[in-house]
Amino acid sequence: MTELEGIITNSLSRFKKENPLYFQPHTLEEWETIWDFANYDANIYNHGLHQYPARFIPQLVRKIIKTFTTANASVLDIFSGAGTTLLECKYMGIKKAYGIELNPFAIFMAQTKLQDLDDHIVISSLAEIEKSFFDENYSFPLISFKNIDFWYSKNAISGLSKLFDILSHIDDEMVKRFYLLVFCEISRKTSFLDHSGFKMYRSKLKIQRDFEPDIWIEFNKTAQRNIVLLKENNTYSSTNESTQTLIYGDSRIVHPEIPAHSIDLILTSPPYGDSKTTVAYGQYSRLPWQWLSQKDDIIQLDNNLLGGNIKRSDTTILNLSKKLKEQTDAIQTADNSKRVKDVIAFYNDLYETLISATHYIKQGGYFVLVTGNRTVKKVYLRTDIIITEFAETLGYSIEKIYSRKICNKRMALKNSPTNEKGKTVNTMMTENIIILKKC
Ligand SMILES: C[S@@+](CC[C@H](N)C(=O)[O-])C[C@H]1O[C@@H](n2cnc3c(N)ncnc32)[C@H](O)[C@@H]1O
Repeated sequence: MTELEGIITNSLSRFKKENPLYFQPHTLEEWETIWDFANYDANIYNHGLHQYPARFIPQLVRKIIKTFTTANASVLDIFSGAGTTLLECKYMGIKKAYGIELNPFAIFMAQTKLQDLDDHIVISSLAEIEKSFFDENYSFPLISFKNIDFWYSKNAISGLSKLFDILSHIDDEMVKRFYLLVFCEISRKTSFLDHSGFKMYRSKLKIQRDFEPDIWIEFNKTAQRNIVLLKENNTYSSTNESTQTLIYGDSRIVHPEIPAHSIDLILTSPPYGDSKTTVAYGQYSRLPWQWLSQKDDIIQLDNNLLGGNIKRSDTTILNLSKKLKEQTDAIQTADNSKRVKDVIAFYNDLYETLISATHYIKQGGYFVLVTGNRTVKKVYLRTDIIITEFAETLGYSIEKIYSRKICNKRMALKNSPTNEKGKTVNTMMTENIIILKKC
């Protein structure tokens, strides 16, 4: 039995008497083979309060945390997104959990999912919100931001502005956040956005049909759904000593809030490539965040995320991974365009995040990355192999790579790597779970 198999076998007893909404493996073989979680609900408890692209499956997160840590542990997610890892750490009573994330909307979402909020106060506030919404004498400023008229009808802008003003005046900060997160979801639903992907296109059908959403009905429907989730969350979640720290920042740099060599487990899912040609986190978040912040700087976000800056295409990285060198040569041969620079810039950034992550991890700690491979200029980029080659240069041993089918992760099935509408390719339908150990 390998050391990893020993750890997994030892952990199996910790899965016993578990909540049935979570995975309960009985044998080593079952642990090793079940990864897709097709029959599990990813929207349980506060996880379901808002969607996010390529969000983790909570059951997968719990499986990894339960196997590689005990309650006393410190866990870190260096691309924390909607906060799935931190929320599971909270439910499990993990002593310290940290998340780093550069998307301000994702940070807001995670903060809201993590707060301890009494559902009774939330329910009683809804009647007040409704009363103000239907008060014809309620005066409010019309919200404006870049291209608002392009994305919404006049009536929608007026209805959403009124609702936003009412919610902004809620005294209790946590209740305010709860309802603003509901607002964020409907700010996308009630726009002219085509929801088939994460990039911002207007839906032709909505335009043809003079789409006029009913703001209150949409808000109330989502609020009711989230109240049910919050109640379930409050019944399930118990108070414990765990703390969760969210850091709004870039995971390429070291954050002093996280003590050096203090982390037992890093569990994360990096972007699959640069946001502009893979999953556009910035575009997905733009409208909600423009409403919330009334600023337009989020428009630049995709340029600041991993691989967003083509100037970072220094080729010394190619000495650290044979696979990357071979594959970028193939892209260059197929097409002497800037695409190869995009690819190199992404891996430069990814390598920098691995260096920073290595600053936090304990010797003997585990680093689990859930990654997808993508195709650029017909070259199937083996990010899994490239990461393991990078990891070896940073003093990790490669314990195992598992493969999982993507069933219920929210991902566009097609994306448009050329950024031209209509030109699409299938996005990756399997992911790899790479298990590294710090030597
Ligand atoms: C695959 S998603 C993570 C989703 C997350 N596991 C969840 O359950 O919601 C990758 C995340 O990395 C973030 N990201 C990209 N570049 C970053 C950077 N340089 N620093 C911090 N976060 C970054 C993106 O904004 C996105 O939220």
